[in-house]
Amino acid sequence: MSPDSTQSHPPTVSFSPDAPGFAANPFPVLEELRKAAPLSYWKEGRAWLVTRYEEALAMLRDSKRFSTNRAHWEFASVSGIAAIIPELAELNNAGLFALSGADHARLRKLVSPALTPRAIERLRPEVQAIVDEILDEVSGQDTVNVVSDIADRIPPRVIGSMLKIPKGRETLFNRFTEAAVKSFLPGLLRPEDVPALRADVQEGIALVRETIEERRRNPLPDDILTTLIQTEEQGDRLSTAELLSLVSSLIVGGFETTIHLIGFTTYNLLKRPELLAQVLVEPDLIKGVIEEVLRFDNFGKMGLARYALEDVEVGGVTIKKGQMILLMLNSALRDEAAFSQADVFDARRNTNSSIAFGYGVHFCLGANLARLELQVVMNRILERFPTMSLVKEPSFGPHPVIRKMESLEVQLRSR
Ligand code: HEM
Repeated sequence: MSPDSTQSHPPTVSFSPDAPGFAANPFPVLEELRKAAPLSYWKEGRAWLVTRYEEALAMLRDSKRFSTNRAHWEFASVSGIAAIIPELAELNNAGLFALSGADHARLRKLVSPALTPRAIERLRPEVQAIVDEILDEVSGQDTVNVVSDIADRIPPRVIGSMLKIPKGRETLFNRFTEAAVKSFLPGLLRPEDVPALRADVQEGIALVRETIEERRRNPLPDDILTTLIQTEEQGDRLSTAELLSLVSSLIVGGFETTIHLIGFTTYNLLKRPELLAQVLVEPDLIKGVIEEVLRFDNFGKMGLARYALEDVEVGGVTIKKGQMILLMLNSALRDEAAFSQADVFDARRNTNSSIAFGYGVHFCLGANLARLELQVVMNRILERFPTMSLVKEPSFGPHPVIRKMESLEVQLRSR
């Protein structure tokens, strides 16, 4: 990675997010980029990299000039998923991540009342029961892979229980979510697996559709899906197609993120025995640990994508209409200009200025749920396995946008 001095405009950099070691520790490379310039053009990725906090925040705030809608990209083409599983592409294209402007604002307005902190807090007993069940299953094992044995299994069950997927159909729902997650990485799919994945997606969509119709007939009190169905804004309501898209947004937004946050939080705690000891006597400190993991060891490999709706001057360069910008939160959250001693892990840091859940109109809709899940998982793991220890350093696998922790082996009990 080095700035290319032969190009005065735009300042291009070579950047290799798939290089060995980047997923395990991207921070030296990101620091070099951040120190060199606020923005640099990454030719191979056809995108601007925004590595400093100030510019990243300014662009998150400026949804009028920077859209999340890929259709505005100069190189927009058919997405990989559309070619493989068109049903899923259709859902995603109508979901929160893809929409922008007035369409996005309308959907957010209708969805937000269902996901208030209070509505999410009501899920706590169910999340606890799910986590306990999974921990019961692994408790006989001497060592576990926290990612595949614990973390991977939590989000599908939590979302399934949040939507109250009918009893006996949970396995189908889990297969649907698994297929949906796999198909986001079309490049990693084996062609022979595609027909089965597509069938799982089709069956899953039918199941969610049935669940929505059943809830329309029989609304439940204090129920998130019922609230989503009933919320009305000036005569406007969510259609079944929109509800389906929303479920797919919850899967896109809430699965890999939660899984990785569990893995990275466990790892960061196990690397810091004093902090771990402190959390054992002060369980509430886990909240600060989680926020600090999101800042200090952000699991993003790439940044949040934005597309310029007009020519914009930022940080001494001109972003042209139609260009892609990647807001590198992993770098911005280590920016000394925004966080003092940014390279120090401090669980008692005031992280009000963290943008790990985004900012502005696209601020993470699942932030309350993510925090709840993480607090429950970490506190339960530590209560049950207080002497847990790291067996070896985690291993990382390929992924286009996440520092994908594949394996985090821990020993649950001291010998
Ligand atoms: C576990 C940690 C999580 C992190 C770090 C995270 C991070 C983010 C970020 C940075 C954004 C903004 C995207 C952008 O501006 O382009 C976002 C949006 C979103 N997140 Fe999360 N997320 C997490 C968990 C969840 C969960 C658990 C759910 C739901 C179950 C969820 C659902 C969403 C949705 C639906 C959006 C789109 C909101 C919109 O565009 O209006 N996220 N998330």
